[in-house]
Amino acid sequence: MQGLTIVDHPLVQHKLTLLRDRNSSTNLFRSVVREIATLLCYEVTRDLPTEFIGVETPIATARAPTIAGKKLVVAPVLRAGLAMAEGMLDLVPSARVAHIGLYRDPITLQAVEYYFKAPEDVADRRVIVVDPMLATGHTAIAALDLLKEAGVTDLRFVCLLASRPGAEAVRAAHPDVPVWAAAMDPELNDHGYIVPGLGDAGDRTFGTR
Ligand code: URA
Repeated sequence: MQGLTIVDHPLVQHKLTLLRDRNSSTNLFRSVVREIATLLCYEVTRDLPTEFIGVETPIATARAPTIAGKKLVVAPVLRAGLAMAEGMLDLVPSARVAHIGLYRDPITLQAVEYYFKAPEDVADRRVIVVDPMLATGHTAIAALDLLKEAGVTDLRFVCLLASRPGAEAVRAAHPDVPVWAAAMDPELNDHGYIVPGLGDAGDRTFGTR
């Protein structure tokens, strides 16, 4: 699918299988979500621009690259995106964080906003939205809508698991936003859960069910 990158690295795939296992503990689930997010962060930041600066090594003066251009914001969709945000911040600790509170109405499966707090200069930054499950796509589309309303033009979306219909919906609604996932599953069940999926990512991360 155009604009969708599946990160098929063996480490990512192995760790995703741990998440799919219904017998994985809450502790393991949360730490593996964080680890995969770090690995996905490595991929999603692959094209960040760099510039050369002068640096004094213990031996000599060198010209060496540093990250240049827009600063990053990590934007977790609450609450399931929080562990992913931690994994991204492990790699880019200077990134700012925008919290996006959206819940899925259990009947309509539509996304309902209840919280939005972003850095004041978010419009000048590159924003990486993180949400582990791209299921119907409603939440992802709403999160991207909110950030665009706040003036953001440089957006990326990162999830652990996408459904094919969800990924198609997000790409259709926001064709300018590239999407990264560790895997894509074929379908959703009647409750909007990804099949085979890994269950409810929020509940499994926080041990609430
Ligand atoms: N949210 C989840 O946590 N899991 C799914 O399968 C779909 C949405």
